[in-house]
Amino acid sequence: MSAGANVGALEVATDPEELAERGATKLRAAIVDAVRERGRAVVALSGGETPRPAYVRLAELDVPWERVELVWVDDRFVPWSSPRSNYGVALRDWLARLPIPKGNVHPMPPEGPDHEGAARAYDAELRRVLGAPAGAPPDALALDLALLGVGDDGHTASLFPGTAALDVTDRAVVAVPGEGAREPRITLTFPVLWSARRLLVLAQGPKKKPVIAAARGDGAIPARRLQRARGELVWLVDRAAAP
Ligand code: 6PG
Repeated sequence: MSAGANVGALEVATDPEELAERGATKLRAAIVDAVRERGRAVVALSGGETPRPAYVRLAELDVPWERVELVWVDDRFVPWSSPRSNYGVALRDWLARLPIPKGNVHPMPPEGPDHEGAARAYDAELRRVLGAPAGAPPDALALDLALLGVGDDGHTASLFPGTAALDVTDRAVVAVPGEGAREPRITLTFPVLWSARRLLVLAQGPKKKPVIAAARGDGAIPARRLQRARGELVWLVDRAAAP
């Protein structure tokens, strides 16, 4: 374990239902705290299956949505109508019925002719939402919370093993080329994740057990790099995923 590593706190939920409930409660708490302290909350959402029930539960809670800005940790570079679109799934799962101003929801750009240009555009939008100057380094962008998952291969966001995006430090948002069956994506980079005030990682199921252990230990996987987080880092897992 490298010195100064932020291993974070491990919290274990009994089952996926409790994971969703506790995830929603933590999301709401981060929002309420940010609104109290700074007048608003900028929350970055991941896709994947794990957080979906937590998002649906969050939509049922009392949240000052008019004070919340929603951005994405990553998305697939596909049409929003696609079942592979993180934004599209969120819209259909919970966002469409949320009393949040439309201007407060900032999806990553859908599929288009210019993947790199779309990533640059989102970098600019993220800076505008956070009130950061165009030239600010990525680690100056302070999200109030980023909700993350981890893949079986140890990726988080769309920061996959062996990809160039893992080592980007001069940009907040990058385009991730498709590889094999994996479609092209857009993702936040690690410096932005490391500077978030809170990181909440959700994981469930036995396949994630070795990944969580490696991420909080000395595994050579992208998610282990979350140990460089400067804010609060919480790993909220179910019993099956608990190391
Ligand atoms: C995505 C997510 C990705 C996800 C992991 C875990 O766009 O797919 O951002 O990083 O969090 O792949 O996904 P599950 O929750 O489905 O296991």
